[in-house]
Amino acid sequence: MNTKNNNLSSIEEKMDSQHQKIFTQLNNLIVAYSQDKNNDNKESMTEIIDLLGSIASKHFKEEEAYMTKYSYPFYLKHKKSHDDFIQIYNKLKHTVNESDHSLNVIDTSNILINWLKSHILITDKILGKFLKTRTL
Ligand SMILES: [Fe+2]
Repeated sequence: MNTKNNNLSSIEEKMDSQHQKIFTQLNNLIVAYSQDKNNDNKESMTEIIDLLGSIASKHFKEEEAYMTKYSYPFYLKHKKSHDDFIQIYNKLKHTVNESDHSLNVIDTSNILINWLKSHILITDKILGKFLKTRTL
C-alpha cells in the first residue's frame, strides 16, 4: 500500500474510532438515565454528557481541520451539519444538568444516535471519497 492510502486509512480508522466513542457515550447516557428512576444519579449523567461533548467537539474539529487543509468544497455544509448536532447536544446538556425535563433525554439521545448514523453514511462518506482524490 502506498503512503497516500496509508494516510487515508489511518484518518478513516481514527474517525471510525471517534464515531464509536460518541455512540458509546450516547448509549451510556440512555442506560444511566433509564436506571435513574429516582433521579439520584445526576453526577454520573453529568460526567457522561461532559465526556460526550468533549469527544464530539474534538472529533468535529479534527474533521473540519482536514476539510480546511484539503480545501473541501462542501466545508460549510458539512460544518453546518456538525453545528446542528452541537446545538441539540447543548439543549440535552442543559436538560441533564438542570434536570428541567425540557427534553426527553432518551428520545433526544436516540435522535443524536440516528443523526450520527446518517451523518456517517452520507455526509462523512462524501468527505471520505473526496479525501481519496487528494494526495495525503
Ligand atoms: Fe462529519
